[in-house]
Amino acid sequence: MRKKLIAANWKMYKTPEQSREFFRDFLPLVEGHERDEIVVCTPFIDLATSVEAARGSNVAVGAQNMHWEKEGAFTGEVSAAMLTAIGVAHVIIGHSERRQYFNETDDTVNLKLKAALEAGFVPIVCVGEVLEEREANLTDDVLRRQCLRAFHKVSAKKAASLVVAYEPVWAIGTGKTATPEIASDAHAIIRGEVTQSFGEEFANNLRILYGGSVKPDNAHALMTAEGIDGALVGGASLDPKAFAAIVNY
Ligand code: 13P
Repeated sequence: MRKKLIAANWKMYKTPEQSREFFRDFLPLVEGHERDEIVVCTPFIDLATSVEAARGSNVAVGAQNMHWEKEGAFTGEVSAAMLTAIGVAHVIIGHSERRQYFNETDDTVNLKLKAALEAGFVPIVCVGEVLEEREANLTDDVLRRQCLRAFHKVSAKKAASLVVAYEPVWAIGTGKTATPEIASDAHAIIRGEVTQSFGEEFANNLRILYGGSVKPDNAHALMTAEGIDGALVGGASLDPKAFAAIVNY
């Protein structure tokens, strides 16, 4: 049985003070919740405050990005060691907004995944098709390509902590949710590709999250659909009550 992972992705929202307020209000709402793993991925600037605020609770704090080099002249970047040093062990890699607006490619996703695994992180690798690709019946190809390239030269042994998030780009921030059936089909494609890369046992244990307009009122249907092992939640995760309602689907 795969334990579900419900992750918040705050994107570029909230100051450190607002993060503290979030945890003050959110933690009591999920206190003692053991059924699912809970992670809140905050902007870099909020990580230290959030780790402090969540200390001793059942909620982990994650980053939304990291660089693949250990250190160096990379202005504006953050390394795995820096994240580890402040108590962060989860990191989102290759979010579609990073791919769309910051030129991340399947190759940089691969570099980041290797660096994250090397540093002992739980990487949440995002894949997903844009609307034109879905309409042109290319969803299959896109998901297979993104997985294949992300996993290039990664071994099953190294990848043990891997989590994949299926985020159809047309469903992100649009209020258009993939139906549970559409999500289940995509998850099956991803699990199939993971089987090719890492073998059946690995694929059976892999958690594949769904992301894209997950809200309190659709969380139950999505979370109980075949092959969906959790959620990556954007907009609705900014509000403690809404995110707690999703966690408690
Ligand atoms: P929304 O939940 O706001 O659609 O965002 C989804 C997402 O991109 C999570 O990473």
